[in-house]
Amino acid sequence: MNKNSKILVQFAGVFGLIGAFLGAHMAGSGSYAFRPVHAHILVVGWLTLFSWSVFYKVFQTTTNLLTKIHVWSAIIGSVGLTVGMWLYMVKPFDLPEGVTLAFYIGGGVLLLVSFFVFFLITLFYREDN
Ligand code: HEM
Ligand code: HEM
Repeated sequence: MNKNSKILVQFAGVFGLIGAFLGAHMAGSGSYAFRPVHAHILVVGWLTLFSWSVFYKVFQTTTNLLTKIHVWSAIIGSVGLTVGMWLYMVKPFDLPEGVTLAFYIGGGVLLLVSFFVFFLITLFYREDN
């Protein structure tokens, strides 16, 4: 069983469901407050995590330290970014701006780490991996 591929596709599935639901909600309610949250849940959470899941199924099928860092920064980063963006932009709760910004920036930075580590993995990738 390929653990990296499996956990990424499961998170992609959850993001896809929530993102499509938010899209339907925006279309139905006529309010586009969720637009950036919907967009990132789908392009980062659904499309990017799904692509990485396929990458671990088709290309890099073995696990190493870099793939562990990549997968966990991808998951925690995409959850942190989208939850942070929701808290910061939609303001569903009356939280101090420091708290919402920490989520948003922390998630965004982790997601950048994830893209960088993915780039490194592609550099070290060999056919027999
Ligand atoms: C499943 C893949 C989907 C992706 C990747 C996606 C992506 C996006 C993106 C990037 C935007 C922002 C566009 C912009 O800034 O102009 C957006 C806006 C929007 N999406 Fe989606 N979306 C998806 C599915 C859906 C679904 C299923 C619905 C409705 C049932 C929906 C409804 C909307 C609405 C109402 C907007 C706001 C449109 C506007 O700003 O004029 N989306 N979507
Ligand atoms: C790394 C952390 C990221 C941060 C902090 C971030 C932040 C933002 C912000 C502030 C906007 C403008 C939203 C608005 O109109 O109010 C935006 C738009 C957008 N970003 Fe990101 N982004 C990030 C990563 C990504 C990634 C990785 C992708 C693609 C895979 C992406 C795709 C988009 C798209 C398609 C839009 C236009 C959507 C819209 O207009 O609603 N972003 N982003």
